[in-house]
Amino acid sequence: MAPGVFFAPASRLRGTVAAPPDKSISHRAALLGAMSAEPVRISNYLRAADTISTLNALRAVGALVEEHDGAVVVRGCGLRAAREPEGAIDVGNAGTLMRLLPGWLATQDGRTFALDGDSSIRRRPVDRIAAPLERMGARIEATGGRFPPFAVRGARLRAISYELPVASAQVKSCVLLAGLGADGTTTVAEPVPSRDHTERMLAGAGVAVRREGSCVRVTCTDRLDAQSIAVPGDLSSAAFMIAAGVLVKGSRLLVRDVGVNWTRAGFLRILERMGAVVLGELEEPGASVPVAEPTSDLDVTAGPLEGTIVEADEVPLAIDELPLVALLGCFAEGETVVRGAQELRVKESDRIAGVVDGLRGLGATIEATPDGFVVTGAGGRGLRGGTIDACGDHRMAMLGAVAGLASQEGVRVVGMEAAAVSYPGFAEDLSALARGG
Ligand code: S3P
Repeated sequence: MAPGVFFAPASRLRGTVAAPPDKSISHRAALLGAMSAEPVRISNYLRAADTISTLNALRAVGALVEEHDGAVVVRGCGLRAAREPEGAIDVGNAGTLMRLLPGWLATQDGRTFALDGDSSIRRRPVDRIAAPLERMGARIEATGGRFPPFAVRGARLRAISYELPVASAQVKSCVLLAGLGADGTTTVAEPVPSRDHTERMLAGAGVAVRREGSCVRVTCTDRLDAQSIAVPGDLSSAAFMIAAGVLVKGSRLLVRDVGVNWTRAGFLRILERMGAVVLGELEEPGASVPVAEPTSDLDVTAGPLEGTIVEADEVPLAIDELPLVALLGCFAEGETVVRGAQELRVKESDRIAGVVDGLRGLGATIEATPDGFVVTGAGGRGLRGGTIDACGDHRMAMLGAVAGLASQEGVRVVGMEAAAVSYPGFAEDLSALARGG
């Protein structure tokens, strides 16, 4: 028998599940804690491989990280006093850590920091952060000019106006963090909006962050006052439960405390267009930068789906959920098309190739395009099942598991352990729902 974990077809899913803590917000909360002068208490911090990498990276540059009454308390170094570690900072598998941390490190005048990670991280480009940081005055030395391991040499930075070549919250956040230590006002222009957790958290820490149209601006500051941060549930993790609830006939689920910041909730709007019944109180897009991260319980009912088209402007708002859109498309009537999502090729794995090969192996009719995919749905006939290789990618592992529950014959997922990168306990939560909650 092939190795891996088998997910049998489920008769229906029932019950309540709490979304695990948000990964993007956990990374940012810990980082802002390390940059703050006073201790920062983070409640509901995600304890998963990626966000543990962040705590260890921050310890390496001089922050103290403790646990108190279930919360993580970060006693930071302050904005300008990160310590040069002995060896390379290990970012593990965490792309967000690898792209955000250098924004702060670049402001540490005269100090050099090396960063490295696992084999997946070594395939992920850092030139996208090197370009703006070098324009601000830092020096970045990357392997082959583009990849980790790489070194960041901090400097006294100058503010820039930077137009993002691709919509990326990671790159935007990196430049904004560097902007906190750069003389003048730093401006980042986005081609289309991407998640704004960094902006909200900086505003909560007393920084003047302004949004004007497609631009975000920050001005040099001497201190952050974050104090306490509550991490909401992760929509990107909850999305797997939501998709399972929509796809497995007869299901009805309540997913509790999900972050519904509008810059993250694109998946819910795509689901609505596909005809899925997911009820909750979503945030409406606004012009200014709010501080709060809104949450909602989401009530999910299984039902028939129709195909949809996801265009480039919607991609950053649902970037990590696009593999699930492909899976949902397999069960929809008609075609589901995702365009303008070439960024998927540089995630933890090439998620266009992985989704297309993986779902095709389970019986799907799906074609790759350079910037997305086209799925021809089988409607109520759904997917046959088979074996899928997660290729070390946490979201591909969870995709395979959900496909298994909704399929005719079940799915064996090779490399299921990758789910621990963002959602330890995923398989247990899913099987509790399959047992009836
Ligand atoms: C993230 C932003 C996205 C997303 C990643 C987390 C973040 O990446 O895919 O999983 O926390 O800012 P990009 O901003 O590079 O698209």
